[in-house]
Amino acid sequence: MPFHVFELERGQSIWENLVDINLTESGVHPLSLAELGGMGLDLSELERLPLVYVQTNGTVALREAIAAHYPGTNADHIEVTNGTSEANYVLCHALFEKPGELLIQTPNYLQVGGLVANLGMPVRTFSFRSERGWETNWDEFEDGLNGNTRAIYISNPNNPTGAVLTEEAMDRIVRSAAKVGAYVIADEIYQGAEWGDTITPSFWGRGENVIVTSGLSKAYGLPGLRIGWVVGPREIVDRCWAHHDYTSIGPGTLSDYIARFAVEPANRRKLFEHGRAHIGANREGFEKWIAGFGGFLEFTPPAAGAFAFVKYNSAAPSIPITTRWREQHGVFVVPGAWMGMEGFLRFGLGGLKGPFERGLALITPDIRALRAGTR
Ligand SMILES: Cc1ncc(COP(=O)(O)O)c(C=O)c1O
Repeated sequence: MPFHVFELERGQSIWENLVDINLTESGVHPLSLAELGGMGLDLSELERLPLVYVQTNGTVALREAIAAHYPGTNADHIEVTNGTSEANYVLCHALFEKPGELLIQTPNYLQVGGLVANLGMPVRTFSFRSERGWETNWDEFEDGLNGNTRAIYISNPNNPTGAVLTEEAMDRIVRSAAKVGAYVIADEIYQGAEWGDTITPSFWGRGENVIVTSGLSKAYGLPGLRIGWVVGPREIVDRCWAHHDYTSIGPGTLSDYIARFAVEPANRRKLFEHGRAHIGANREGFEKWIAGFGGFLEFTPPAAGAFAFVKYNSAAPSIPITTRWREQHGVFVVPGAWMGMEGFLRFGLGGLKGPFERGLALITPDIRALRAGTR
């Protein structure tokens, strides 16, 4: 069985710290420990904490604090992991103990697709329709769902489009999945990173077949803590715990402690506000830049996430374009191919204004050449 390399994560980890300008970062500007101290985190307590193994599924205190955000749950419905990526990882290993198919929305963060394929299970896709403001392609959704479907994976808000499903669409997905006995994995890591004031509603509570994964890496602005979680029915969470014993055993002591502070409702609100202050930082300049290409570049403004998924009207594949930008100009942009959709580029809009504008200026001549067909 061929192994599916997770191209996006591999590409990002190789390039994002080597290039001059990272024009593609998906998260909001991260906070420092000092900033958390300024918000009231007791830093002296951190110095005194014995660096023990914490309970492997996360401390009861942290799991209770997370459970408070998901009505009807308690600490037993939560598995704390090292990042949302580990939450997705242990969850897929738990769900696919029983053979079945995965149905995954595209474009997307393709971790779950790759890892289920690596478990030897069939993976089907359904897409968002770019020409209709990222509306779900329901025909593809219905075609992909069948009696063998074990789980549907959605990221909502979606990476890379920033689209948010309507509540009607969320309910439809959950109902359709329930009819064939499938689970819905709702990866809600971007919840709280909206461009407007309304927090994206959760999938949680829409059906007994819903499992949510999330974490502190995006909307909370704390990716370096590596804290994520699974919220689900007890029997599934217990299986996640069993798989977690085989991966990293448990979360780090310091991270578990800081996470308890971060998920407290008042602190969570402040952290989300901090992230939102950075999200739209470059939006106006970006929209002007896009308009300057006379329709060659198009995008639907995102509802959430510090990124924009931009269509370019050329048949040129996205990987050679972005490789050229990296090699010739030191500018990093994620190609649509790494997110499951050709003909697109993912730009990060949350960076500092100076490098952001310089990055756009550096790649402008190449885009003009693409438009003129001389590339
Ligand atoms: C939708 C989605 N889920 C999970 C992750 C991984 O999150 P973490 O850094 O918490 O492991 C990402 C990272 O980009 C993501 O976009």
